[in-house]
Amino acid sequence: LDAGSKAAPQPEIELTANARRVLEKRYLRKDAAGRVIETPAEMFRRVAGTLAAAERQYDARADVAAKEAEFYGVMSRLEFLPNSPTLLNAGKKNGQLAACFALPVEDSVEGIFDAMKYTALIHKSGGGTGYSLSRLRPAGDMVDGVSGIAGGPVSFLSALSAASDVIRQGGVRRGCSIGLLSVHHPDILKFIVAKDDPLALTNFCISVAVTDDFMDALESGSDYDLINPRTGKLTGRLNAVEVFKKIVAQSWKTGDPGLVFIDRVNRGNPTPNLGPVETVTGCAEQALLPYESCNLGSVNLAKMVKQAGEKMVVDYDKLAAAVKTGVNLLDNVIDVNCYPLLQVEEVTKQTRKIGLGVMGFADMLVLLGVPYDSFEAVKIAEYVMGFVTEKARDASEELAEKRGVFPAFKGSVHDAPGGRRQRHASCTTVAPTGTISLIAGCNVGIEPFYATVFVRNVLDGENLLEINPYFESAARREGFYSGELLQKLVSCIDLTQIDGVPERIKRVYVTSNRIKPEWHVRIQAAFQRHTDGAVSKMTNVPNLTTPQQQADIFLFGYREGVKGITLYRDSSRELESLCADEKA
Ligand code: CDP
Repeated sequence: LDAGSKAAPQPEIELTANARRVLEKRYLRKDAAGRVIETPAEMFRRVAGTLAAAERQYDARADVAAKEAEFYGVMSRLEFLPNSPTLLNAGKKNGQLAACFALPVEDSVEGIFDAMKYTALIHKSGGGTGYSLSRLRPAGDMVDGVSGIAGGPVSFLSALSAASDVIRQGGVRRGCSIGLLSVHHPDILKFIVAKDDPLALTNFCISVAVTDDFMDALESGSDYDLINPRTGKLTGRLNAVEVFKKIVAQSWKTGDPGLVFIDRVNRGNPTPNLGPVETVTGCAEQALLPYESCNLGSVNLAKMVKQAGEKMVVDYDKLAAAVKTGVNLLDNVIDVNCYPLLQVEEVTKQTRKIGLGVMGFADMLVLLGVPYDSFEAVKIAEYVMGFVTEKARDASEELAEKRGVFPAFKGSVHDAPGGRRQRHASCTTVAPTGTISLIAGCNVGIEPFYATVFVRNVLDGENLLEINPYFESAARREGFYSGELLQKLVSCIDLTQIDGVPERIKRVYVTSNRIKPEWHVRIQAAFQRHTDGAVSKMTNVPNLTTPQQQADIFLFGYREGVKGITLYRDSSRELESLCADEKA
């Protein structure tokens, strides 16, 4: 039992065995000898106490104890968790609490090496970085009046990747990075194949920043301009169809590059008064200005469902309450955060962006009895995320009444008739939730279940066999659970082929290898329509997908309105389906 507060006994925190292991290995405080000296309850109390103390910055008589209890409540009930750096570092000396950072890479030797240094500082503190490489002059361009010298953006990619590779974030993990290059950059063809070598640029994704002009040229089959960013001059033209084919061929082969629809991202930029967005963050879920950072937090949708008579329904009152507390908590993070760089602190405090999102969407769907690959799931995604964003904006507005609007409000998109006087330039983002979903014991982000039975590579090579807990309890409840059933699933017989399993169950427990890529895209787009920032989503495509089909999925994503799209064809990742080779 977790001891919790010294004063009153706290209810036990319902952590899975995996969650406990992750917490012990990475999150709980340790003494000099490496012994864990904090319980999970004490961790949540450390975070809640540190963040609640920020209330006093706005109100000398604020009831900090009540706020601490509120923050502790949502976290310990696993209804809402802030991003990993907050859980890890809140309350510690120089605690850096945000997950996402954006760095411009300036077109000078100093600029490039500054970016490397800033990377080291950011990654050491637990953050991941998005880089805009589009300002760098192309390879072979003039340097100090001498031509043929510049290395070009691709040559610096490996330097940036190496800088992040050698730094373990907060001593626990390697940071994710993403590098974006404009499709109009003269080095774009070199960039597209920058990850051709599977060992190159580990922990570093690349995406092509695609403009509306490029998409128009693609549609009409015409050529488009390449511009040298140093001179602003046209250096040549390429055929959009040919470039797109190269992007698709490379994505089909290696998973990189993805696409970011940069003009669409900028149409959603809440503060064009501070300049354009040039890049997205490590896992592509947030669009940030140069040197901006953002802290994230996610509501666990698995906990937002209740019984109503015979049916399970979404508990909107509970969801609204979790969102409101979450917005308050994330706002306080901005004030207590120790920023790794002065520039980052300045830009972040101008916009006060927060990224409140969701995880456990697949859990919510099975509890409601709805298959992931259905229009009903798309409708639920729209409605739930629409509700979350609406409530987050309400909470942001309410905070602004007491604490003021974000400093760059004047001239922002909110500063218009009918606009909201918000505390945050943007409120919602759907994060990957790679680790916090493990802690919460729910499925990751808005992904479908990966498998009914799978081996989880927990940490450092430890493997554990897991059965989808909802499936297991449904099977026991409905009387079709048996050793034989498990045996069949373990030996890769697909659930749909097993006799005695009700059709409804087969349908609801659809796993990602059975879900057509279009459904991944529709769900991503449904969330995107109601999210201020971007949506982190893996679109799995079956191994046998052809490059042409893959091209169609990219274009479908564009038409559906996503801000970015990355396709993974039969890739390996932390969760390994026992039956990976039965992808069709
Ligand atoms: O679940 P958790 O809070 O640990 O993180 P996430 O939602 O999976 O990722 C949020 C952000 O953290 C990503 O966009 C990256 O910027 C950063 N991140 C990172 O730098 N390194 C990792 N290994 C994981 C995440």
